[in-house]
Amino acid sequence: MSDSHRFVSPNEVRMGSGSADQIGDLMMARGTSALVVATSGVFDRYGDRIVGHLQEAGLETTVYDEVDPDPTVANVDAAHERYREADCDCIVTVGGGSPIDTGKATGVLAANGGEIREYAVDRAGYEGVPEPIPPMCAVNTTAGTGSEATRSIVVTDESTATKFLVVSTEAVPAVAVEDPTLTTTLPPSHTAFTGIDALTHAIEAYVSVHAWSMSDTLARAAIERVARWLPVAWANGDDLEAREEMLIGQFQAGQAFTNASVALVHGMARPFGAQLHVPHGLANGILLPYVMAFSTVGRPGRYADIARLLNAADEDTPDRDAAQAGVDAVADLCEQIQLHGYLDEFATIPDRETYASFVPEMAADAVASGSPDNNPRKPSTDEIETLYLEVYDDVLADVA
Ligand SMILES: [Fe+2]
Repeated sequence: MSDSHRFVSPNEVRMGSGSADQIGDLMMARGTSALVVATSGVFDRYGDRIVGHLQEAGLETTVYDEVDPDPTVANVDAAHERYREADCDCIVTVGGGSPIDTGKATGVLAANGGEIREYAVDRAGYEGVPEPIPPMCAVNTTAGTGSEATRSIVVTDESTATKFLVVSTEAVPAVAVEDPTLTTTLPPSHTAFTGIDALTHAIEAYVSVHAWSMSDTLARAAIERVARWLPVAWANGDDLEAREEMLIGQFQAGQAFTNASVALVHGMARPFGAQLHVPHGLANGILLPYVMAFSTVGRPGRYADIARLLNAADEDTPDRDAAQAGVDAVADLCEQIQLHGYLDEFATIPDRETYASFVPEMAADAVASGSPDNNPRKPSTDEIETLYLEVYDDVLADVA
């Protein structure tokens, strides 16, 4: 294994209340004609404000506001067509991971041509995008995916109902805008989902076999920050201090994992989410304590560190005991934000027999994603199947 590491980041980050109103200044130096990418709901709320600032700064604007919650190949193609028709030269996304990933994928096509599926890691490998995307600014309105800080793009292939992943340094946005006043309307459900996604990013980056000093510093900061502030932001969405701390925490978590990796939780969550129609963060949050309990033996010192960051153990606690206390603390945090309570509304859970019939395919998909290879305890396919069934019996059976 090489001793060298890669560290990527947006060139510029604007953080704090009112930073979204700086979008005109930020893009003026970077382009003349912006494609604005959003979901329709977020565009209705913030679109006029963002477009207004861009136009005041002298940019032309073209809007694509039809991004689906899990962006599809069709979304990317439609956004790219609008980009080409209007002769755009820069991209501004408004929203969370879905518009950000759509914007990044549109940029990949604008700079490189072809179809977005060609650039997925299963076809082009990691770093399979030759030319950098045009200048892009991600104006974030959630606090979780960290996509504005990462090399990753997740797109749903509607022809197979599966998600594929593109990973390239050339897809990192130039600018991230993190304005807490744009996140106060995020409902408790999505505050919980995106926040647990961020915690999962930080924990997986910290225990990853690719962790190193730079990712560790960010992961540790993110674990502490998200654990402290997620319950506050969840309980009171108008608490601007909590919203800002969550934006910082999720950004640090995004930087941590894009410069290390995610691991088994994300590997299992992608097929699990696709089968049960569960939002990404909720899928992670359901799996996280079970995967942690399975994995501690692979790197007990790291899991003990996590427990200490969560104030669930002290320096005198033996690592193996501390590691278990960390698992319990994460499960407690999920309970505090009533995560399992959202399954009723946000998941389609089949009976056990039907679920069990999906399990071999979900496990095979998880292995194929490559993420389980980054886990401190590398699971066999059988062990992944057992974890899926354990989660059903412990959590999902009550809701089915
Ligand atoms: Fe994630």
